[in-house]
Formats: sequence, C-alpha cells, structure tokens
Amino acid sequence: MFKELRQEIKGTITKVNVPVDNRLQQICNLLKESVPYYDWVGFYFKNGDKDELKLGAYAGEPTDHTIIPFGKGICGQVALSDKNFVVPDVKAQDNYIACSINVKAEIVVPLFANGENIGQIDIDSNTPDPFTTEDERFLEFVNQEVAKIL
Ligand code: SME
Repeated sequence: MFKELRQEIKGTITKVNVPVDNRLQQICNLLKESVPYYDWVGFYFKNGDKDELKLGAYAGEPTDHTIIPFGKGICGQVALSDKNFVVPDVKAQDNYIACSINVKAEIVVPLFANGENIGQIDIDSNTPDPFTTEDERFLEFVNQEVAKIL
C-alpha cells in the first residue's frame, strides 16, 4: 500500500500548476481515503514568529484546535522535540488535546525545511494501536516531499 502511495504523493507534489495549498489538500484526501486506519489527516505549521502551530490543509471532521501553543498536546510537544510521536492509546497521555471522542490513537511526524522544524503531519485513528515503523517511514517521506514545495 505505501509503495503505491509514495508514487501518488510524488505525482501530486510535481503538479506545478496546482497551488501548493491545493496540493497539500489532495495529499490529505489521498491519505485519508487510502489508509483504512487514517481517520483524520492534517498539516500544522509554525504560525509566523509565534510559538504556536496553525492548522493548514486537513481531511476529516473539522476541529476546534486550529491553533496549538508549543508544548501543548501531542502536536505542541513535537514542535519542541523535533521527534516523531506515536501514541498507541490516547487515553494514556496526560498532555493530549482531544479533537473527537472516537479517536483512539495518534501519530505526529515533524516536517523539516532546511533542517528546521516548521510543522508536522498529524494523523488520528479510530483504531487502537494501528501505527508501525512503516507508518513512520512513510510519513517522513511525505513530509520530505512536501518540504520541496514550501
Ligand atoms: N490531538 C492533538 C490535537 C490535534 S487534533 O488531533 C486534530 C494533540 O494532542 O496535539
């Protein structure tokens, strides 16, 4: 599954005539539709000079959490740690921001441009403990591709 998806991601990234925001939207839609346990897929980016994240493109239910301060929730922690954060069970986390009662697990992978952590991809799953190192490698790839067009 991820092998084919990598090719499709590359195809989307190289659509130079499509605005970048639309390409990011297409990637969110593609991931949500293709991976059965990806129930919400979104990109957060550093909001200008502020120590906070701002929601960009996403696919899935709208969320109230369009701004997340650095340090808050899984996303805010990744903004500071520069490391992948895989959460098999969101109930076991005390620094967690709930977006939907259906969410069981989450993965957040930082996005680096010129070596700087400028955002992240965030995936919520309604399936308990679904993420493996394959998801991590795949999402790192997605972010590397996205970094080329930012
Ligand atoms: N759960 C995230 C907040 C973002 S929503 O999942 C869309 C967190 O704890 O940072």
